[in-house]
Amino acid sequence: MNKKRSCRHFLTLLDLNASELKWLLTRSKQLKTLRNAGVIYEPLRNRTLAMVFEKSSTRTRVSFEVGMTQLGGHALFLSARDTQLGRGELIEDSAKVLSRMVDCIMIRTFEHRKLERFAANSSVPVINGLTDWAHPCQLLADLQTWQEHSGAIEGRTALWVGDGNNMCHSYIHAAQLLNFNLRIACPEGYEPDPQVLTPAKNCTLFRNPLEAAQGVDLIATDVWASMGQEQEQIARRAAFAAYQVNNEMMSKAQPNALFMHCLPAHRGEEVAASVIDGNNSVVWDEAENRLHSEKALLEFLLCPEVISNLDSEPKVIE
Ligand code: CP
Ligand code: NVA
Repeated sequence: MNKKRSCRHFLTLLDLNASELKWLLTRSKQLKTLRNAGVIYEPLRNRTLAMVFEKSSTRTRVSFEVGMTQLGGHALFLSARDTQLGRGELIEDSAKVLSRMVDCIMIRTFEHRKLERFAANSSVPVINGLTDWAHPCQLLADLQTWQEHSGAIEGRTALWVGDGNNMCHSYIHAAQLLNFNLRIACPEGYEPDPQVLTPAKNCTLFRNPLEAAQGVDLIATDVWASMGQEQEQIARRAAFAAYQVNNEMMSKAQPNALFMHCLPAHRGEEVAASVIDGNNSVVWDEAENRLHSEKALLEFLLCPEVISNLDSEPKVIE
């Protein structure tokens, strides 16, 4: 018998409403405080997360795996290469089988449509661990980091510099949900998907990155060639040469503007070493916050009992 039931997935940030996203950010901060105080909190005892990777990862794999351990559960690493997915088993069949055994599935893959097909066939929550089109888990960490360093972000201005890629799309979604202004500076031919950009009224496209950087509170960037675009590396290096985040660009922003990068970074390409290793860079906090924000996400998807009232501060459970 097929026990398929409806469940929440996290495929893009827009799977959350603004209250839910704010709840997650507050909860993540609380879980970070609990963890730093050495408090053991294990709501996911005996629960298993399957992590399917069709692309490489350091932060996503480690943060989800450690997060499950800290919440009392278990994470299972499945690389496409070593499973039947790599030998052509249908994504739909894989989703049906995995979701009969585990409580939640995180998947990192190429086409976003593949993730959607997987989720449509899963009876447990599916989390987007990155597709070519969106990287919502990274935005949970970026938004938390921005709030921790700058306070309320509503009405502030961020600049996305470089490729209109998966990270850029998730920044656009975040700006829509949290009402901050987003400037996007990218070369011709590398703009974000118009379907993502057009509905976002608080997001503006710029060609000149120095003009775009004037007075902003945050500058974020990413590699010029994402996973799967390795063969375009040389052409992209030429197209993006004027889009490096360097001291000149940072000097146009607010003096206390933050620099963020989802990592891994290429010093001397999309970012100068003096910026990523400088005083305005918060990339290590950003990377650490992957752990706390994904724990909040897992709790949100798997422990509905903790979400009593989304409009009030989440209760601290000790
Ligand atoms: N930022 C990020 O997702 O890193 P990994 O590719 O190492 O998981
Ligand atoms: N845009 C990058 C993000 C890596 C975390 C990629 O998709 O490779």
